[in-house]
Amino acid sequence: MSIPTIKTARLTLRPFTLKDVEPLHQILSIPGVLEYFPNPDPPDLEHVQKLVQRRIDHWGDHDYGWWAVEPNKEGELIGWCGLQHLPETDEIEIGYLLSKPYWGKGLATESAIAGLDYGFNSLGIEKIIGIVHPENVASQKVLEKIGLRFQEQTEYFGMECYKYLALNPN
Ligand SMILES: CC(C)(COP(=O)(O)OP(=O)(O)OC[C@H]1O[C@@H](n2cnc3c(N)ncnc32)[C@H](O)[C@@H]1OP(=O)(O)O)[C@@H](O)C(=O)NCCC(=O)NCCS
Repeated sequence: MSIPTIKTARLTLRPFTLKDVEPLHQILSIPGVLEYFPNPDPPDLEHVQKLVQRRIDHWGDHDYGWWAVEPNKEGELIGWCGLQHLPETDEIEIGYLLSKPYWGKGLATESAIAGLDYGFNSLGIEKIIGIVHPENVASQKVLEKIGLRFQEQTEYFGMECYKYLALNPN
């Protein structure tokens, strides 16, 4: 399938390409960015290349995936946002990650609204979940601001997490 590009007020959500490997590697090397991920160690370049390739392939296996996120003004990669299929539970998760200088400006919320809208209104997905580390309060706030609600504490990706849920309102 061709991967859509979505524009919001401040952001462009566009397909990942292998040109994003180097800038994404730099973002994931910033201390704190992966603090609440199952493996918080910064990945090496080869690992990031595989990650980006998997993200591109995901769109081929499903109708959705992660977008590369760029500010409209600067046109450089600042992170990712989008939907991914969790094969273990056959659920669809919304996720996002931004480079640290872009935190605290409402940008993750802006990108996640676009991702959720795409899943619910363009694809008609019935339910979308959010999985977040219990101490990742900023991410929990993003999920709540875009309309997901806390469900339970449970294990995903080998770690204890909070699970959030939104049902398609249509
Ligand atoms: C989580 C993350 C995406 C949030 O991005 P962001 O653009 O700063 O998010 P927003 O500005 O849209 O909203 C964050 C909210 O959390 C709040 N917040 C930020 N840091 C916080 C903290 N340490 N404690 C409590 N609230 C916090 C903000 O005030 C804001 O809430 P508000 O709108 O009520 O003021 C960003 O911190 C990030 O990329 N972190 C690393 C990757 C990551 O953890 N991704 C999520 C995995 S589940």
